[in-house]
Amino acid sequence: MRKTAPVKYDIHSLLLERWSPRAFSSKEIPVDKLQRIFEASRWAPSSSNDQEWRYIIGFKGDETFQKIFNTLTEFNQLWAGEAPVLVLASAETISPKTGKAGTIALYDVGQSVAILTVQAEAEGLFVHQMAGFDKDKIREYFELPDSVEPLTVFTIGTYGDPSKLHPNLQRLEKSDRVRNNFDTFVFRNKYGEPTDLFNSP
Ligand SMILES: Cc1cc2nc3c(=O)[nH]c(=O)nc-3n(C[C@H](O)[C@H](O)[C@H](O)COP(=O)(O)O)c2cc1C
Repeated sequence: MRKTAPVKYDIHSLLLERWSPRAFSSKEIPVDKLQRIFEASRWAPSSSNDQEWRYIIGFKGDETFQKIFNTLTEFNQLWAGEAPVLVLASAETISPKTGKAGTIALYDVGQSVAILTVQAEAEGLFVHQMAGFDKDKIREYFELPDSVEPLTVFTIGTYGDPSKLHPNLQRLEKSDRVRNNFDTFVFRNKYGEPTDLFNSP
C-alpha cells in the first residue's frame, strides 16, 4: 500500500514514499538487503565521528526477537510481531574522546536510524520505529551497560495484509499523512517568527 506524502514542494521519491505501516508480512528479508540497510546506517554523520549507534537485531523465531517483542507495549504487540525483523536502537552516551556522558549521542543515533529507513525504502522494505517499549526490561534482557541508552525499537519488513490488522489499527493504517506547516518550525530573526521562504509556490 502506498501513502505518498502530500508535499507542497517535490522531494525525492524515497522520501515521498517512505511511511510507517503496521501491516507487515512475515516474509524473510534477504541478507544482502539487511547488509545494505545497516551499511547505510553506518555512514550516517555523527558528532566527532563518534558513531554512537548500537543495534541489536532479532529474527522472527529467535530468542532475541522474542525478548524485544516482550518489551513492547500492548498496543505495539498488536502488530509488530508479524514483522520478520525487530531491532533495538541504542546509544553509547560516553564519548570515546572525553570519557564524559552527553546527549549528542542521542541525536547521532536518530540520524543513523533515519538514513537506515531511507535505504530500507530503496530496498522495497518498510521500517516502523517504536518508542513504546519497556526500557528497564530491555536493559535487563540484553545486559546493556549503564552508559548505553535504549532509544527505539523498530520493525523491518515487507508490506503485509492490512485486513488482518486489529480493527482500530486498520483505521490508522488508512489515515491521512499530516505534517505541521513550515511556519511552525522554520523561523527567521527570532524563535517563533515565520519566514516568507514558503510563501511562493
Ligand atoms: C521515535 C519514534 C517513536 C515512535 N513510536 C511509535 C510507537 O511506539 N508505536 C507506533 O505504532 N508508532 C510509533 N512511531 C511511528 C510514528 O507514529 C510515525 O512515524 C508518525 O506518525 C509519522 O508517520 P510516518 O512515519 O508514516 O510518516 C514512532 C516513530 C518514531 C520516529
